[in-house]
Amino acid sequence: MTHQITLRFEDGATQMIDCRAGESVADAALRARVSIPLDCRDGVCGTCKATCAAGDYQHGDYVDEALSAQEAQAGRVLTCQMRPSSDCVIEIAAASDAAGVGTFHGRLTASRALSPSTLTFSIALDDRQALSFLPGQYVNVQVPGSDLTRSYSFSSGPQKTRCRSWSATCRRG
Ligand code: FES
Repeated sequence: MTHQITLRFEDGATQMIDCRAGESVADAALRARVSIPLDCRDGVCGTCKATCAAGDYQHGDYVDEALSAQEAQAGRVLTCQMRPSSDCVIEIAAASDAAGVGTFHGRLTASRALSPSTLTFSIALDDRQALSFLPGQYVNVQVPGSDLTRSYSFSSGPQKTRCRSWSATCRRG
């Protein structure tokens, strides 16, 4: 059984996703390749805090610092923990332009080993390309001429506006 979840973004855009029984909204969004703010995915940081405008759900497990009892009573939810038990409408505290999945081309402008196991680098995007991203989002980097991709976390901070260059970090291994 699945529930239909309407994700309503700050700019008025909506995305519909299906959430399986027992699945968190965040996992359902990731499965649908829709990015929403995420970080710990463990009910600790509060990054994924959103508002459920309609529907029934279980709050799941989390610490009080991430979501207070007052917030929970007012319909605030942590999407990494929330398990819908009906169709729901959820207001996401982010604009939709960072919610999609896209392909971008750019040039490596800097690279530095932070330790024997950690690498950081910067990419400048090609002309007319710009990228915005949410907390917890990552990028799969592919070297031209190769089929290999690798996931990297952004180390530059999330921005409200779309940016032309960004940095990422990955543990080597
Ligand atoms: S991502 Fe940290 S509480 Fe949900």
